[in-house]
Amino acid sequence: MKRGIVPGTFDPITSGHLDIIERAAGLFDELVVGVAYSKNKNGGPLFTASERVTLIEAATSHLPNVSVRSFDTLLVDFADEVGASVIVKGLRAMTDFEREFQMSALNWRLDSKVETMFIMAIPEYMFLSSSAVKEIARHRGSVRGLVPDVVCDALERKLEEAR
Ligand code: PNS
Repeated sequence: MKRGIVPGTFDPITSGHLDIIERAAGLFDELVVGVAYSKNKNGGPLFTASERVTLIEAATSHLPNVSVRSFDTLLVDFADEVGASVIVKGLRAMTDFEREFQMSALNWRLDSKVETMFIMAIPEYMFLSSSAVKEIARHRGSVRGLVPDVVCDALERKLEEAR
């Protein structure tokens, strides 16, 4: 039984994240999407961890071997807790590389039994990020297609509450 883990903040999940999850789901018997609380990232996430989990569950409901959990620990400890031996990360433009390279080296230093592998984003999603999606949505631009439909509606509601 090979179990992988796709970690991230997912604030919110984008079509690029979903593409990586779908492709990773084909490589493992079971795939866990790990939603990091990331309380301190960019002034705090827009969606709570539990809202992010719910949105990812809805967006991945067609993938029977995918489950979603939140975590507030070191990633390697969470991987150990769920019995995953491989961390899967998506790589977009070169700008991702340095940060991901550093994180994979540190994770290897923390627990060398957990391997990190990278899946390249498809060109369509190469420059897509959760921050860009939130920026567009805040200015009332359309993010349809950039995020799963369920996220479009949740973003509209969340930003309306904040206005
Ligand atoms: O989507 P993100 O914000 O790029 O994901 C980053 C994430 C959540 C994978 C990273 O911050 C992480 O692994 N956080 C858990 C805490 C941890 O293990 N930090 C040490 C990694 S070097």
